[in-house]
Order: sequence, then C-alpha cells, then structure tokens
Amino acid sequence: MSVRHRAGRAAAALLCALAAVVPGVAAGADAEAGRQKAQLCMACHGENGNSAQTAFPSLAGMPGQFIVSALYQFREGKRVNAIMSPMAAHLTNADLNDLAAYFSAQKLRPPSATIAPERAAQGRMLAQKNNCTACHAATLTGQQHIPRLAGQQREYLAVQLSAFRAGTRAEMDGVMTSAAQGLSAEDIDLLADYLSTLNTP
Ligand code: HEC
Ligand code: HEC
Repeated sequence: MSVRHRAGRAAAALLCALAAVVPGVAAGADAEAGRQKAQLCMACHGENGNSAQTAFPSLAGMPGQFIVSALYQFREGKRVNAIMSPMAAHLTNADLNDLAAYFSAQKLRPPSATIAPERAAQGRMLAQKNNCTACHAATLTGQQHIPRLAGQQREYLAVQLSAFRAGTRAEMDGVMTSAAQGLSAEDIDLLADYLSTLNTP
C-alpha cells in the first residue's frame, strides 16, 4: 500500500475515532450569544473573525468542531500560548459552543495577497503529495475537528507548521506533528504562500 493510501486510511480512521472523543458543536449552541461573547476576541482575531494581522489566525469560516477543540485545548492547558491561554481559561463549555457556532458561520474575506500562478501550482502539488488535502478536505477549508487552511494568515501558518515540525505545537492526537516531519523550510514557505492566498469560500 502506498504512503498516500495509508495516510488516507489513517485519516478516515481518525475521523471516526475522534468523533467519539471530541463532541461536535452542541445542539443547543447559540450563535447570537456567541456574537456577544466574541466582542473581546475581535480585538485580535479581527472583525467577525477576519484577522487583519498576519500573526493572528482568522476564525471566520473555521469548522465549529475545530474551534471547540482548540479552545478546549487552551483552557485545559494542553495547548499553551502566552496571549491566547488566558483568554480561554475562564470559558465554560456553553461559551465554547456558542463562540464556535458564531465564528464558524462568519464569511472569511477573500485574501488580499496573491502569488504567481506557477508558485500556486507548485504549492498545490506539494499539498496533494503530502496528503494535506486528504485531511483538511480537497478545498482545504477543513472539516470536523480539522482546521481550515485556505485563506488563513500567512505568518500564522508558517509558525504553526514549523512548531508542528519541531514538536512544540500541542494537538489532540499527534497526526499533524507526523504530517509535518517531511517538510523542509522551503516547503513550509511555499505552503504558507499557497494556502494564505487560496481563495475558497
Ligand atoms: C490578545 C489577543 C487575543 C484575544 C483577545 C483572543 N485571542 Fe484567540 N488567539 C490569539 C493568538 C495569538 C492565537 C494563536 C496562538 C498560537 O500561536 O497557538 C489565538 C488562537 C486562537 C484559536 C486557535 C485558532 C487556530 O486556528 O488554531 C482560537 C479558536 C481562538 N484563538 C479563539 C479565541 C476566542 C473565542 C477569543 C475570545 C474569547 C479569543 N481567541 C481571544 C490571540 C487572541
Ligand atoms: C492525517 C491528517 C492530517 C494531515 C495529512 C495533515 N493535517 Fe494538518 N492538521 C490535522 C489536524 C487534526 C489538525 C488539528 C490539530 C489540533 O490542533 O488538534 C491540523 C492542523 C494543522 C494546522 C494548524 C492550523 C490552525 O489553524 O491552527 C496547519 C497549519 C496544518 N494542519 C497544515 C497542514 C499541511 C500544510 C498539511 C500537508 C503538509 C497537513 N496539515 C496535513 C490533520 C492533518
């Protein structure tokens, strides 16, 4: 079996396994309550979750389940960031669900930066070769507990990929840390350029 097939099967198995561990956005989640709770978040994550700063991630159009999972990891001290951890420390489970319902329903603005078509084609090939599309969806807009990459802030993407490669970005199960091991610094640069300029609604 090829590496690609193995990774695809691993991804499918993982989706099933995680469905049991990480709850989706709860049925009672309230996007309007989430909008009110999100006012503070927008200072860093931008209006409606459209970040205007390259080091801060956009939250607009993220799968709701990923937002719950990320906030949960920050709150429980599994994922640590000096700026973000204190923001999640006092959130209740209802807050997690309401915030996720709100941000996942917002539209991500099309990226303003562009890259040369040849470089975009190289980035697309690299993303396919490394199975990024198998887990993060063919459109790279994410699914379930797996984040959107298309249109994400460039610096944020590059920093997170380097951190996964170095083993310093915590995650639910380690699959992303393995996925980053084969990437060179040039690969990370190319992927960050490609993904941050990828306009998929
Ligand atoms: C003072 C700035 C700041 C504020 C306010 C803030 N955040 Fe963050 N947030 C960050 C930074 C910086 C990161 C990236 C952390 C890292 O590098 O791991 C982050 C990461 C996140 C992530 C993970 C995104 C991803 O793609 O992995 C989520 C979800 C999130 N924040 C939600 C929120 C919510 C909800 C609020 C409001 C309750 C909030 N943030 C308030 C700065 C902030
Ligand atoms: C086997 C499945 C899988 C593969 C293959 C995979 N990813 Fe991921 N990726 C994940 C999961 C799951 C997460 C969320 C981890 C967490 O925070 O718990 C993630 C997170 C990320 C993040 C962090 C984004 C954020 O908003 O915090 C980036 C960037 C990323 N992946 C890029 C890539 C790239 C580029 C590739 C291809 C080189 C790739 N991934 C391949 C499953 C995968």
